[in-house]
Amino acid sequence: MLHDDDRDLMRAVSDYLRRVNELSARETIPSRTPLGDLIGEHLETDAERVSVVQEQIADHRLVDADIALDALSADGDGRLIGVTGGEQRHHHGLSEYVSNGHIRYDVGPVDYAERATGPNSSTRVVSLGVRLLHFEGSPIALAQRAAAQQYGRQSALVEVMATDAAVVTRFLEALRRTMVERSVLRGQVLSFQHSEYGREAGATFVARPAVDADDIVLPDGVLDEIVQHVVTIGTHREVLLSAGQHLKRGVLLYGPPGTGKTLTVRHLLTATPETTAVVLTGSSIRFVSAAAEIARTFQPAIVILEDIDLVAMERHSSPQPLLFEVLDALDGLDGDADVAFVMTTNRVEVLERALAERPGRVDLAVEVPLPALDERRRLFRRYAHDLPYSDAALDAAAERADGTTGSFAKELMRRTVLRAARADREPQDDDLTAELDRLMDAREQLTRSMLGSPADGRAPTNGEHVASFGWFAGS
Ligand SMILES: Nc1ncnc2c1ncn2[C@@H]1O[C@H](COP(=O)(O)OP(=O)(O)OP(=O)(O)O)[C@@H](O)[C@H]1O
Ligand SMILES: [Mg+2]
Repeated sequence: MLHDDDRDLMRAVSDYLRRVNELSARETIPSRTPLGDLIGEHLETDAERVSVVQEQIADHRLVDADIALDALSADGDGRLIGVTGGEQRHHHGLSEYVSNGHIRYDVGPVDYAERATGPNSSTRVVSLGVRLLHFEGSPIALAQRAAAQQYGRQSALVEVMATDAAVVTRFLEALRRTMVERSVLRGQVLSFQHSEYGREAGATFVARPAVDADDIVLPDGVLDEIVQHVVTIGTHREVLLSAGQHLKRGVLLYGPPGTGKTLTVRHLLTATPETTAVVLTGSSIRFVSAAAEIARTFQPAIVILEDIDLVAMERHSSPQPLLFEVLDALDGLDGDADVAFVMTTNRVEVLERALAERPGRVDLAVEVPLPALDERRRLFRRYAHDLPYSDAALDAAAERADGTTGSFAKELMRRTVLRAARADREPQDDDLTAELDRLMDAREQLTRSMLGSPADGRAPTNGEHVASFGWFAGS
């Protein structure tokens, strides 16, 4: 229970505090902080009078920025310092660090974050810090910070202060150039992921797949044609360019589920070990313009758009369907950009009209068909590995498995091994026959369509229920 005396006292105290606040608001802002003094000493002027230039940097390029800033600070007397000020330092920017009536920003510990530099490597980068350095002999102060969605910052940020605006401009040019020259993204396989806060996404590193041409069973010439177009055009880049021919190319791989489109794409990445690649699947295709930007910057590059039919006609940021954004991204690249766009779909009819409306973006469309008997024989042998099945049994099975796919062959062999294991013995020809019976049985129709082999031999019209043999599945 509060007494009246207590209430009066509290009221008096709160009045007093309000007046203190009003006074301090009038009298102490703006006011240079200890950090502002230090920055002013470095810039040889009153830091409160120097304007701040902001450079936004996609967060997945923070590592590049950190490396570039280290390099640009290296010659001479570059200094890296941190900032005191608790939580508030995340909300404030460089000009508040210099000039603030409430928080006496001072030199504190540097904030670091661990960031990937490859599929299996990472490094420590500055996530909030101030650098004092010289560029072309002129002093520069800058603040470097990572994106922090919890503080409403979608991208990383570099804020630069120097007395001469032209120096700032040239410094930022040097920063951008060095970020490209030393980028950790170049030559890597990247994919885009949604951030945990939903809005922006960043590139993440993916291990480059290892799929040999021999691992893929396709009708003669099909794989060659694709590889020629995607890989070999790049290796003849000088000849083509000097003959005034364009390098940019768009390839569409279409065909029923489970026939080896993703496998082929993985092989393309194996066959281009030095090439920067961005892989977008399904809904992450909406990051196509960011992917195209990476491809343009770090060419030679390949942009993979997997299962594009799943999202082709959806609208995301713009009123037009996503497929048009994809085609625009392809269109927006210079003809002499060494960039290949490779799209896959198992419902080409969804794309046909749109592609016809904007001709010229896709310059090669290749069907990856259901395997014919000869391919099925090879598939069955390949996936039987060294299982002890007789050639006669494998051939007979291949013959019966009309209308099935490569992923069907793989699943069939797995089931035969399981069947033998359950009976606690080695696999034998009977297992092959029995499991094929089961899979070919009408009751297994759903499973078969999930393995990409509908009863009537055509692709299912709904791609959603197709089993996903994703990127990280073995080949
Ligand atoms: N032509 C093939 N040669 C060798 N293996 C194959 C072939 N087709 C499919 N497979 C096997 O089946 C798996 C799934 O195939 P894949 O993911 O490439 O199919 P897809 O054509 O991309 O299907 P979807 O349209 O459903 O994406 C492969 O990883 C591979 O193990
Ligand atoms: Mg696929």
